[in-house]
Amino acid sequence: MNGREPVCRYVYDLDALAGHVAKVVAALPERCRMFYAMKANSAQPVLRTLAPLVAGFEVASGGELAKARAVSADIPVLFGGPAKTPSEIAQALRQGVTRLHVESVLELHRVSAAATRAGQVADVLLRVNLAGPFPPATLAMAGKPTQFGIDESELPKAVRAAVELPGVRFTGFHLHSLSNNLSAEAHLDLLELYRSTVVRWEAQFGVHCEVVNVGGGIGVNYADLAAQFDWARFTTGLEQLVRTFPAHWREVDFECGRFLVAACGSYLTEVLDVKRNHGVHYVLVRGGTHHFRLPASWQHSHPFSVRAVDEWPADLPRPYVRSEPVTVVGELCTPKDVLARDVVVERLRAGDVLEFPYAGAYGWEISHHDFLSHPHPDHIFHARVPHSSSRVPRPGT
Ligand SMILES: Cc1ncc(COP(=O)(O)O)c(C=O)c1O
Repeated sequence: MNGREPVCRYVYDLDALAGHVAKVVAALPERCRMFYAMKANSAQPVLRTLAPLVAGFEVASGGELAKARAVSADIPVLFGGPAKTPSEIAQALRQGVTRLHVESVLELHRVSAAATRAGQVADVLLRVNLAGPFPPATLAMAGKPTQFGIDESELPKAVRAAVELPGVRFTGFHLHSLSNNLSAEAHLDLLELYRSTVVRWEAQFGVHCEVVNVGGGIGVNYADLAAQFDWARFTTGLEQLVRTFPAHWREVDFECGRFLVAACGSYLTEVLDVKRNHGVHYVLVRGGTHHFRLPASWQHSHPFSVRAVDEWPADLPRPYVRSEPVTVVGELCTPKDVLARDVVVERLRAGDVLEFPYAGAYGWEISHHDFLSHPHPDHIFHARVPHSSSRVPRPGT
């Protein structure tokens, strides 16, 4: 660290991102479309890389919609989120979103009134908080009380409003229910549950869906990086399953975030100090959960590797650990600033750099960047091939 600032950066591989997402999309069967849930990572180079590959973006705020439109004036956009403001609804209509995912009867009325004022009719999906049961996953948005979606008992009222209100057109249902499901079989079971439920609702309410949105929730295995979600197995099963979907469902939308972008990003941070406290070896890094809150949010030990850095000032002691468990913590004044706990390292010294892989989704995006006012990390986007969307308007055209 002689006279220079310690390493602290996010590094993204946009070629790897493009390669991964192109393969994911290519394996989807007919009628299935992959949208990108940009809440996972809304950095412009990521959006530009993904825009030509996916069916469109899923946004959950006016701010995300503005980011989508900054990348492309005409890319299809789905607008979701549990608490939309009237001005966001107006913005969504003005900026030509393809569909709104509506989460309550009041919101249906708000959308209808805004669309009527704008001389439009908005296509809507009703987001439902299904009763389940669901496969195990890290987070559940449905199958239990949450702020998301319409309770099934409210559905008769909501469908009636969606069919009768003049400013909206009922287009189908939205069923995002969980986050980080790691099993292809379990995800197929989930989609089978969605199919039987929506078919039942169609008969019960006398409606026909054009679109069913099955959400995101495909997981990333942070505990065992070699055992990731089996997309090939999933899409093979999906092809069979989609054949059993009613023919009038013209579109089955996925809106994945984590599974698309997690692998393309790493968080690198330099070890500032190593010390032992009450019998525990602490590794203190230039960074922490204000840059990369995912491990704290999910209470997991994020995997990391050690990049040995031999350079070290001759006049300073160099603390280290060898073949011992360490706890990696950041520079914040809270004991919750922990990135990894009780991980045995072969050798780790002050001045080495730790690399946390699979940090491309819900890393920087969900972190409280300015707590303690430390400088932000660098964000470096590598690409051998320029990934600019063909949909991005170029100057002078
Ligand atoms: C409505 C909705 N759709 C899609 C996603 C993306 O989920 P994931 O990143 O798990 O694929 C989320 C994430 O919470 C969400 O809330």
